[in-house]
Amino acid sequence: MPRLFVSSVALMGAALLCSSSSLAHEAKTVEVTTRSAKPKGENIFKGADMYVNPYFQEELDSSIKTASGEVKKTLQSIRGLSSAYWLDVKSKAPHVRGFALNTANYQTVGEMCPFWDYCLGGKNVNATCCDDPCKLAQQYNAGNNEMNYALLLHNKTTTLWPSFEPRFVIDTGRNGQADMRDSCSNWCNIRGAGIGHRPTVKTGSPLVDAFLWLKTPGESDGCTQILPGAEKEQCPRFDSMCMSVDSIGSLESDPRAPEAGLWFDYQIKELAANARLDG
Ligand SMILES: *[C@@H]1O[C@H](CO)[C@@H](O)[C@H](O)[C@H]1NC(C)=O
Ligand SMILES: *[C@@H]1O[C@H](CO)[C@@H](O)[C@H](O)[C@H]1NC(C)=O
Repeated sequence: MPRLFVSSVALMGAALLCSSSSLAHEAKTVEVTTRSAKPKGENIFKGADMYVNPYFQEELDSSIKTASGEVKKTLQSIRGLSSAYWLDVKSKAPHVRGFALNTANYQTVGEMCPFWDYCLGGKNVNATCCDDPCKLAQQYNAGNNEMNYALLLHNKTTTLWPSFEPRFVIDTGRNGQADMRDSCSNWCNIRGAGIGHRPTVKTGSPLVDAFLWLKTPGESDGCTQILPGAEKEQCPRFDSMCMSVDSIGSLESDPRAPEAGLWFDYQIKELAANARLDG
């Protein structure tokens, strides 16, 4: 990873992305086929781009039972959404295609500007594509939103390595709200966050292959020091970032958070209450 980008908040969680060349070259016209499959030795993704995850549905069902009103409606409406693109065979990923951005993080998608440094140096401050909830542009960071971050990475990567024209996917599992954090470096179970754009290959930019829920909404980012439950067990993998002022669990009145990756009923309901599935 070029050192240039290390200071960027948006880089947190950037990961290498492998993707099929068919999705690659026809991202604009590809028909999204969705399959809801019951695996039994068979390739559950055969003939489908996206996949409705039955495990996620089960987790959601457990929260739908105790939800009400708008939150319940939102939870029910996301139950049938496909949330993954699966590379099940090596031949689907003949080369590294680009980067997964915002993985498990909370930076907004935003709008892509005409070029990567459009918002820097006090230029175009009032353009919508320069909206900058984390005040990054004034630190000369062009990643004010994930679309512009893709543009920035594309420019820098292509400059350094002309034969590599990266494409991107953006994790939209928890980035529906823009301005809910005290500090944008906080990443653990953020209070006031919402689910972001529903998974789609229609991103509005040929540089961005898809918006995906790479980290499933509702799965905890990390635990509080004391785990949920009457036993008041210590969490073995506690990370102090999960006690940030922005993290659910840092207030006495909050519920305790389970281990990273485990279902967090309180969080999915908050994410659903603040969801912006249409961006
Ligand atoms: C941006 O908007 C503010 C408030 O409406 C205005 O005062 C300012 O002149 C605008 N700046 C530019 C560069 O257009
Ligand atoms: C990257 O951006 C710079 C500055 O805007 C521009 O001069 C250059 O041509 C761009 N490079 C590529 C490979 O697009």
